[in-house]
Amino acid sequence: MNEAAKPPILRIDGLTKHFGGLTAVDGVTLEFAPGRLHAVIGPNGAGKTTLFNLISGFLPSDEGRVFFAGQEITRLAPHKISRLGISRTLQVKSVFNQLSVADNLWITAQAKRGVWNPFRRTASYRESCEKVERVLEQLDLTALADRQAGTLSHGDIALLEIGMAIAAEPKLLLLDEPICGMSPAETARTVTKIRELAQTIDIVLIEHDMEVVFEIADDITVMAQGAILACGSPKEIAADERVREAYLGRPEDEDYVEEAVRA
Ligand SMILES: Nc1ncnc2c1ncn2[C@@H]1O[C@H](COP(=O)(O)OP(=O)(O)OP(=O)(O)O)[C@@H](O)[C@H]1O
Ligand SMILES: [Mg+2]
Repeated sequence: MNEAAKPPILRIDGLTKHFGGLTAVDGVTLEFAPGRLHAVIGPNGAGKTTLFNLISGFLPSDEGRVFFAGQEITRLAPHKISRLGISRTLQVKSVFNQLSVADNLWITAQAKRGVWNPFRRTASYRESCEKVERVLEQLDLTALADRQAGTLSHGDIALLEIGMAIAAEPKLLLLDEPICGMSPAETARTVTKIRELAQTIDIVLIEHDMEVVFEIADDITVMAQGAILACGSPKEIAADERVREAYLGRPEDEDYVEEAVRA
């Protein structure tokens, strides 16, 4: 089956979330095609993280439905959604600081394998060991396997968090501002890794760094005030007047959008 014939990896229909009088996600309807790297951008408070929380089951929606590869996942528990193949990272980095890098990966690798089945225990143990090794290599963390996670640099913690997400062998990976607070060198390294991962896993990336977004995204969705403002290719988004208006007051981004339009 070619990509065009496959169902969207994610389809969201009328998704809404209220916090008291605030509508954080407001009737969002969208589709993410498989095999592409999607970015979700938008000003602070636009509802991007809340959208991820609704997709991954961390928060219950008030209205609307979510379909993952054609299967409805609306209001399923987070662990069930994770088992079906959606992993996510959090905006605030969260690893087990006291544990080694390898043990952090081990936890999510084992969670996927169903450690509680006694008949699968030996095979499961071996498979998880191999999985941890593979993820360490994939993210260039092998040399840090025995280091306590709490002693890692900011960039390595972010890579470890991505590693924990992919150790669960997702089909879809939701990354919430993975490069936030990184040095330029750490950013370059992480962007390279995200690009590599996107060859085999569908990725939706929330990101504020416009340079990174316009460099790596195949498709961009712009949110503002809980709703979808625009969807399109980087070129289409850069040329969209409504998007420029949403970013007024952030001169660094306006400049970047100007450059992207001229390119
Ligand atoms: N648990 C919550 N309880 C109450 N209000 C919330 C909660 N989570 C988010 N909000 C509010 O919902 C709105 C959307 O927040 P959200 O975190 O989704 O925005 P965001 O687009 O991810 O912003 P940022 O770019 O700053 O991360 C904001 O006004 C926020 O204050
Ligand atoms: Mg957020």
